[in-house]
Amino acid sequence: MKLGILKEVKKGETRVAIPPKIVDMFVKKGMECLLEKDAGLKAQFPDEVYSEAGAVIKNKADIFKESDVIIKINPFEDDEIDSLKKGHVTISLLYHLFNPEKIKKLAAKGVTSFSLDAMPRISRAQDMDVLSSQNNLSGYRSVIIGAGKLNRIFPLMMTAAGTVTPARVLIFGVGVAGLQAIATAKRLGAVVEATDIRPETKEQTESLGAKFITVEDDSVKQDGPSVYAKEATEEYKRKQREAVEASLFKADLVITTALIPGRKAPVLITKDQVEKMKTGAVIIDLAAEMGGNCELSKPDTTLEFDGVKICGTAMAPVSLATTASELFGKNIYNFLNHLTDENGFKWELDEEITDGTLIVYEGKIRKELN
Ligand code: NAI
Repeated sequence: MKLGILKEVKKGETRVAIPPKIVDMFVKKGMECLLEKDAGLKAQFPDEVYSEAGAVIKNKADIFKESDVIIKINPFEDDEIDSLKKGHVTISLLYHLFNPEKIKKLAAKGVTSFSLDAMPRISRAQDMDVLSSQNNLSGYRSVIIGAGKLNRIFPLMMTAAGTVTPARVLIFGVGVAGLQAIATAKRLGAVVEATDIRPETKEQTESLGAKFITVEDDSVKQDGPSVYAKEATEEYKRKQREAVEASLFKADLVITTALIPGRKAPVLITKDQVEKMKTGAVIIDLAAEMGGNCELSKPDTTLEFDGVKICGTAMAPVSLATTASELFGKNIYNFLNHLTDENGFKWELDEEITDGTLIVYEGKIRKELN
């Protein structure tokens, strides 16, 4: 099987889907790896290191001509879809609910496309889950970025010149990114509070030594522990605003991570609330690309409003391109291992991981599109 690894073309992207170490693992399994020239350069993986690991360096046109499976991180661009041929298998993020036209275009080409963001949240898929591996890094990075933008330190410090009180950090959304943000902020010595719509996150928050802000409202209760959040009711949103305001107005750093699959991110911080925040406070909005948890945030932009810095950094893992690529590549390696045996793809269409991620099969769309 020939794997073609494309260079990312999305503006600001620095990662590569497969790093040299993973090329080596694929080659040892008997697969061939074709790499688009300079694909790993921004992640500090030069072509020579790929060649040593067994990759063959090619231009983009040859990757499309010679590969069986074409791999990249971000959704295929229109010109990349034009270059695909019937029978190609693609592996990437696709966000099919947000990109119905792209999916139709892929289907019209007669290809087979897996979407990594559609990975089911089950234990056996954990090591293939790119959203987890990348969001984990985002959570860590958001605290580091926030710390760099603050004009104060994180820990309590007793010095001869006086005592410095610890920074206050507030985190919205205790999923993968939120939990890592809590752990990182705690390690740096901040006082950390967090809130989430899923009640079971209270225990997870407290186990990391942070305080959980509970919103007393039954309208979002689910029957048992849930993987994903339901959309909040108007009543919940009102109560949430009241419950968090005291903490929000005292916070030095606010990190927002709240997402609802397939929908625009919920607005959790309004313009009016930003006006009441402390001068010098910083908001890192990891949901900026999905519409933003703060009403004022813009993706990949840092702006200042009424003395508060608002930083939309949906692409936090790109500033950790080496680590992020290593984890992304390992996720893909595990995924391809799962999908194939010595004879190639198994095509077990009813199997949960295959079924969840296979959006287009031999030109037929298998999922509902928005
Ligand atoms: P996510 O990125 O979809 O959302 C982040 C967080 O925002 C979630 O905790 C969600 O409850 C919260 N949220 C949504 N709307 C909110 C609102 N209005 N107010 C406050 N909070 C709100 O979630 P993520 O990080 O993908 O993880 C979701 C769950 O999936 C977690 O429980 C995680 O442990 C689980 N998971 C399981 C995996 C597996 O078993 N393979 C892999 C990865 C995650």
